[in-house]
Amino acid sequence: MHPPSLWAWALLAQLSPADALLRFSCSQLVVDRLDPLVNPGTAPSPHVHQIVGGNAFNVSMNPLSPPPETATCTTCTFADDFSNYWTAVLYFRARNGTYHRVPQKPNLGFEAANGGMTIYYTPFFRGNPKVTAFSPGFRMLIGNAASRSREITSQYRQLTYTCLQNALTRTGETLDMPKVPCPAGIMSNVRFPTCWDGKNLDSPDHMSHVAYPSSGTFETNGPCPSTHPVKIPQLFYEVIWDTSKFNKKDMWPEDGSQPFVWSQGDETGFGNHGDYVFGWKGDALQKAMDSNCDRCPQLKSQSLVEGNKCSKGRVVREDIDGWLDSIPGLQGAEGHH
Ligand SMILES: *[C@@H]1O[C@H](CO)[C@@H](O)[C@H](O)[C@H]1NC(C)=O
Ligand SMILES: *[C@@H]1O[C@H](CO)[C@@H](O)[C@H](O)[C@H]1NC(C)=O
Repeated sequence: MHPPSLWAWALLAQLSPADALLRFSCSQLVVDRLDPLVNPGTAPSPHVHQIVGGNAFNVSMNPLSPPPETATCTTCTFADDFSNYWTAVLYFRARNGTYHRVPQKPNLGFEAANGGMTIYYTPFFRGNPKVTAFSPGFRMLIGNAASRSREITSQYRQLTYTCLQNALTRTGETLDMPKVPCPAGIMSNVRFPTCWDGKNLDSPDHMSHVAYPSSGTFETNGPCPSTHPVKIPQLFYEVIWDTSKFNKKDMWPEDGSQPFVWSQGDETGFGNHGDYVFGWKGDALQKAMDSNCDRCPQLKSQSLVEGNKCSKGRVVREDIDGWLDSIPGLQGAEGHH
């Protein structure tokens, strides 16, 4: 099966043909209740995550032993990328009050992948080509798992959902969870800030060492603020939740509300968030950004099937699948009407 042409990607991403973007698939590594960024050393962490990337992912991840030194495989198709990328997982709430985890499905062009997500690193849109790739030990978080309001989530600018009518739908992004069944799934979109303070690999809230452009957006080539002058690539996750088993209207709440709930108990969708631990080997990412390549043949790659073979056992032993009385970690405290 041939993936659609680069021109098709350019159209999808509303890029001009001169703008390159590194777009690739990372299959599922594990689904587990761990968060080595926000809750290092804590097993279980407060809510369930789905994780892709290198198999060095663990309860704690020491910034002084970056993933390329400790991982032995990666689920990503760029074989030198041992980074970890993770988000919360989505649950469906049935009329009888039980919950079922919504699986992920591969994106367009990556049909052989075992779930996971699509990762983008974009050096620039329309000019200003120089971006500085992340350094060993770099990590960040975007979004607020506790947000339940449009006002809070608007601060992050670009954490959205696309209600997929088919695999090609890329319009109509919303900040809250789609209100109607989405025939080809719900895509959650997580775009990270694109300016860095140039000094700190992390910060207490895992966010204040990075910032959005001081005006405009990354896409309009807005300038970085003086506090965060270093332009970094735009890291972007697309996660496709395969809602097909849960789309029948007679399974949806009788009061007309929508039935999907993030694993932290958020049924509004405003709690969309993503985590990142950088783990590219050597200067592979910088080289790719400098050459403004799409397929980047100079990078070491592996097939989707090879990426599927990398996996990791769960650390936290609990039932996260099947029909559950409550979402793991929540004791039914949230996510109920
Ligand atoms: C994960 O961490 C535990 C202790 O926190 C350690 O015993 C184990 O070897 C680590 N696993 C991997 C794959 O690094
Ligand atoms: C709850 O509803 C789901 C979905 O309809 C069903 O599969 C499950 O068996 C039900 N569980 C109970 C305990 O009735």
